[in-house]
Amino acid sequence: MTESSVVYLPSPEFVAQANVGPEIYGRADADRLAWWAEQARRLDWETEFTDVLDWSNAPFAKWFPGGKLNVAVNCVDRHVDAGKGDRIALHWVGEPGDSRDITYAQLKDEVCKAANAFTNLGVRAGDRVAIYMPMVPEAIITMLACARLGATHSVVFAGFSSAALRSRIDDAEAKLVVTTDGQYRRGEPAPLKSAVDEALGTGADAAASVAHVVVVKRTNHDPSLNWVAGRDVWWDDTVGEASPEHEAEAFDSDHPLFLLYTSGTTGKPKGIVHGSGGYLTQTSSTFHNVFDHKEGRDVFWCGADIGWVTGHTYIVYGPLSNGATEILYEGTPNTPNEHRHFQIIEKYGVTLYYMAPTLIRTFMKWGRAIPDAHDLSSLRLLGSVGEPINPEAWRWYRDAIGGNRCPIVDTWWQTETGSCMISPLPGVTATKPGAAMAPMPGISVRIVDDNGHDVPRGEQGYLVVDEPWPSMLMGVWGDDDRYRDTYWSRFAEQGWYFAGDGARYDEDGALWVLGRVDDVMNVSGHRISTSEVESALVTHPDVAEAAVIGASDETTGQGIVAFVILREGITSIPDSFEQDLRNHVAVEISPIAKPREVNVVPELPKTRSGKIMRRLLKDVAEGRELGDTSTLVDPTVFENIRSRRR
Ligand code: WT7
Repeated sequence: MTESSVVYLPSPEFVAQANVGPEIYGRADADRLAWWAEQARRLDWETEFTDVLDWSNAPFAKWFPGGKLNVAVNCVDRHVDAGKGDRIALHWVGEPGDSRDITYAQLKDEVCKAANAFTNLGVRAGDRVAIYMPMVPEAIITMLACARLGATHSVVFAGFSSAALRSRIDDAEAKLVVTTDGQYRRGEPAPLKSAVDEALGTGADAAASVAHVVVVKRTNHDPSLNWVAGRDVWWDDTVGEASPEHEAEAFDSDHPLFLLYTSGTTGKPKGIVHGSGGYLTQTSSTFHNVFDHKEGRDVFWCGADIGWVTGHTYIVYGPLSNGATEILYEGTPNTPNEHRHFQIIEKYGVTLYYMAPTLIRTFMKWGRAIPDAHDLSSLRLLGSVGEPINPEAWRWYRDAIGGNRCPIVDTWWQTETGSCMISPLPGVTATKPGAAMAPMPGISVRIVDDNGHDVPRGEQGYLVVDEPWPSMLMGVWGDDDRYRDTYWSRFAEQGWYFAGDGARYDEDGALWVLGRVDDVMNVSGHRISTSEVESALVTHPDVAEAAVIGASDETTGQGIVAFVILREGITSIPDSFEQDLRNHVAVEISPIAKPREVNVVPELPKTRSGKIMRRLLKDVAEGRELGDTSTLVDPTVFENIRSRRR
């Protein structure tokens, strides 16, 4: 028996209580649109939809046309109206050890207050609101208040630099920015609002669209906090004083719920647009089916940050639309020490635990004595997301964290797909360590070659989605051409969505996602484009040209390795040069985009047409024999590169 034919079956006990059984595949296959309509009816619609899908203007889809709903009402009010107001929605755990439990009734009051306060600050349906906040309850309250008002939120990860924040604010022409005074990072308070001040600029340089900044007091540590009169207001003085009565309006199913910027192969990050009815339908349905969530019993914990799509879908909209009780944890897994996650699982009786492979590999490095020191018996299901999970980490996860009792769901999806697309069903699928297994019910994918022909089992091809799906992106903000070009031009004739990932079916028909086939890197589950880092490097005054690749890394999946050429005339560089360049990238983009390694080289390997041969640089960085160098202008360039490498 080959290793990849070993399967793990869900236990009979799990199967007996599972939300869904094997028949749902057949039901969804028999009539895909009817299946999605049934899933949509799990939500409360103010006006029934008149059709399931309008694909007449492909690739621009309208899901559930004619339907009107309010997303926030679906996530909050309807649970309160159904008598579940006392149920805890959020167990919030702050990094320094403070905590808050927030019930659905309290959440409703807070969301209504924020909706009223934002209205007073001039926010109307269709306006954009930028959210630049750490993992505090007010971040979720703000997202839901925007949803309630029909304002489109754009959450910018609070680890992004002020430059990255500014470009996102400008692109979306955000009217309001919501932030905190500071944030806790590895036990220390650090300023955050100062980055907003820097981003917004002053005088002729000021961000024109922004009228107000609402500031939540979180760290209260910054005596020199800058305050712009007329622009800046405290959360406590606005939201805190507002009425908890708010009449919600219903919006069209395709009303834009949020923008989320993500890296592509070229150019600046693009604003992925998600709608309301379709997005919430698949988000809510997959939460129920993939995590086998039981209302009133389970305690769910997704370890993502709300700055990424995983946080949007499986911290905010998926769990809350299902009336879930969940953990919202502010900090890092090793603050104050490596026991933190396991203490939280123990204390709150976490049952469903959804994390990234990079964290699992970090836990492995810390050693199993740490999870072993805790009672993790409340756990009944484990999830993985963000990058391929290597079989070794999968087995360790199942054994050391899951006590060999919990099914693992390895979920493949993307910012663009909005919610889960490929995953085992925990009470159905016999899983293989490392495989995402099969498309979800109602989702249709193929693995094809350059010509769009299905590749045989065992062979790698491109992953495409060959039928529209409810939580698909509605477009790229302000750039319809880029939307068509990026996702729909590769297989335009067939009308398929090109995901950018390679995949294969194995001999048993299990689907394995193999990672990006484009110039997008995946570092600790964060998606970063090579060109973005290259662009940041060449804004340094001493750098003439840069090439960046993702080299495989034991813990983070990939690590960023940069090769740079100095500008003419620069003959000496300081010892700190590598560190200077790494910091430069942190300032231009974010610390998460910092190269692991910077190599100053005399030239870069190029083809005759001037294209940088990243593939060969990857061979160098990963310490392999060089691949085919025949198309290089000058094959000797590598001797120089190798000899200069640290
Ligand atoms: C890219 C999307 C899924 C939301 C978080 C990331 C990679 C994601 C898996 C998985 C293999 C995965 C893909 C994808 N990816 N999940 N389970 N197995 N690869 O969203 O930042 O938009 O990144 O993450 O390469 O294209 P994202």
